[in-house]
Amino acid sequence: MITIKTESELDLIRKSAEILRECFHGIAGMIRPGMTTGELDRFAEEFIRSGEAVPAFKGYMGYPASLCASVNEQVVHGIPGPRELEEGDIVGIDMGVLREGFYADATRTYPVGEVSEEARRLLDVTWEALELGIDKVRAGNHLSDISHVIQAHAESHGYSVVRALVGHGIGRRMHEEPQIPNFGPPGQGPVLKVGMVLAIEPMINTGSHEVLTLKDNWTFVTVDGGLSCHFEDTVAVTDDGPEIMTR
Ligand code: MF3
Ligand code: CO
Repeated sequence: MITIKTESELDLIRKSAEILRECFHGIAGMIRPGMTTGELDRFAEEFIRSGEAVPAFKGYMGYPASLCASVNEQVVHGIPGPRELEEGDIVGIDMGVLREGFYADATRTYPVGEVSEEARRLLDVTWEALELGIDKVRAGNHLSDISHVIQAHAESHGYSVVRALVGHGIGRRMHEEPQIPNFGPPGQGPVLKVGMVLAIEPMINTGSHEVLTLKDNWTFVTVDGGLSCHFEDTVAVTDDGPEIMTR
């Protein structure tokens, strides 16, 4: 069942999303060569807790940190630690906030210093794919209209879309129905209704769409070592179209 949020529930998600936005603002200012992903994690945990909220990922299915930091060929769920960011890396920072019973979830992928033309292009195309997907978050559209535009945009630039991981509904739980694949034909799946809240999260690779997990049992990487990029926003279906709560 896809839950429909009341206006007061939407307000609570907006508040979680506001803390998340401010946390990303801090993270964005810290990204530079030499910074460790563990330092970013400590900042996020303190920042979120000081907002009387909880870092949603910490302890989720045993996950050990407050954010995921996925570098270069890492797709998602990289565990922060002593690794130093290097000039030319791209790093996906995925964070979730839980406050007063409601979740918000978002991801930004940052360039570290100067990055290659290839990396820059991948960041741009993945962001555009998210924008196109969000534009389909409208009452009366089918869920897979989102999936389809994301895939079409990525593939028209020669990239591939990760199949093994999907977006999701969000609210009182971090992962609610429906699952939102980033690929597929348009016009399928449930019809979107005002009050639904969706986490749209394209994961796009320069090479093969296939992924595997490292021995830490969390980090997903591309099978061929190609670059991967991930952006995510929490978006509500409103009478006036998509409301991007995490911006
Ligand atoms: N943000 C991820 C998602 O969108 C969830 C991360 S799960 C964690 O589904 F355990 F790594 F935190
Ligand atoms: Co998510």
